[in-house]
Amino acid sequence: MGTKKIGIAGCGTIGQKVATELDRGSIPGVNVEALTSRNLEKATLFAESLATRPQVLPLAEMVDRVDLVVEAATGQALDGIAKATLGAGKDLMALSCGALLGREDLFALARERGATIYVPSGAIAGLDGVASASAGEVRSVTMTTRKPPNGLRGAPGIEVSGVDLDSVTEPTIVFDGPVIEACRLFPANVNVSAALSMAGIGPHRTTIRIYADPTVTRNTHEIEIEGEFGRLAIKIENVPSPTNPRTGQLSALSALALLRRITSSVRVGT
Ligand SMILES: NC(=O)c1ccc[n+]([C@@H]2O[C@H](COP(=O)([O-])OP(=O)(O)OC[C@H]3O[C@@H](n4cnc5c(N)ncnc54)[C@H](O)[C@@H]3O)[C@@H](O)[C@H]2O)c1
Repeated sequence: MGTKKIGIAGCGTIGQKVATELDRGSIPGVNVEALTSRNLEKATLFAESLATRPQVLPLAEMVDRVDLVVEAATGQALDGIAKATLGAGKDLMALSCGALLGREDLFALARERGATIYVPSGAIAGLDGVASASAGEVRSVTMTTRKPPNGLRGAPGIEVSGVDLDSVTEPTIVFDGPVIEACRLFPANVNVSAALSMAGIGPHRTTIRIYADPTVTRNTHEIEIEGEFGRLAIKIENVPSPTNPRTGQLSALSALALLRRITSSVRVGT
């Protein structure tokens, strides 16, 4: 297999970590070829810190030069990045996967152009089990997410909930309902639930309850799946990243693990 050329769209917490690891040669045969971000000057400063000096280019020019684009920008930016990437027949790895829900047009574009959309597990684990279970009959998939109140600041769903994050002194529910709605109201906070729903029974039947929880310092997700196979329970506690408290470190590592998996001749796990 030849070298896989990677472009990274969005040079923030996740984008920089993925670029830095690829630059160190962490995954044989996978090179970071080019970067793009909202602020090209800042991205250029970052690129200069890397040994392989990837080029910093506007989105369309970057897409031309790569085989796969890792989107690590925002839910709002996903649409433009996905259309440019898939439209050119290039593969897309989407971290802002909440913005993929309901986007049959993007799935159709990928099919038409022979491209693949990859959704990494991100901040959660166990999607292999969810996918296996969903090959049979699944009765319910429920997720409970607890975040320190600061990690939910600025989400449209906080205003809708009427909860004042400054006066929260005990675990307080800010959302309880289907994933499709949660991703609309908390676009920067619950991408994990989108990945969970795509691996399993879809965003209308998968449900999530979100707590603003002053008793936790880690972003905590608990998932329960019930079906004909039995019952699966998953719990994960993520340490928030210093540069973005909404993002745990596992997210960038998951993108790297998926890059390793898709370029490997041996693939482990469902
Ligand atoms: N799937 C998951 O489990 C998971 C976990 C954590 C974060 N995320 C999502 O991944 C994305 C990146 O997270 P992060 O912590 O690195 O965020 P971040 O805020 O640290 O970085 C985002 C970067 O994208 C850039 N950007 C913004 N708009 C852009 C555009 N139109 N084109 C190119 N670049 C643009 C910003 O300038 C910034 O550098 C977010 O959407 C986040 O919600 C997903």
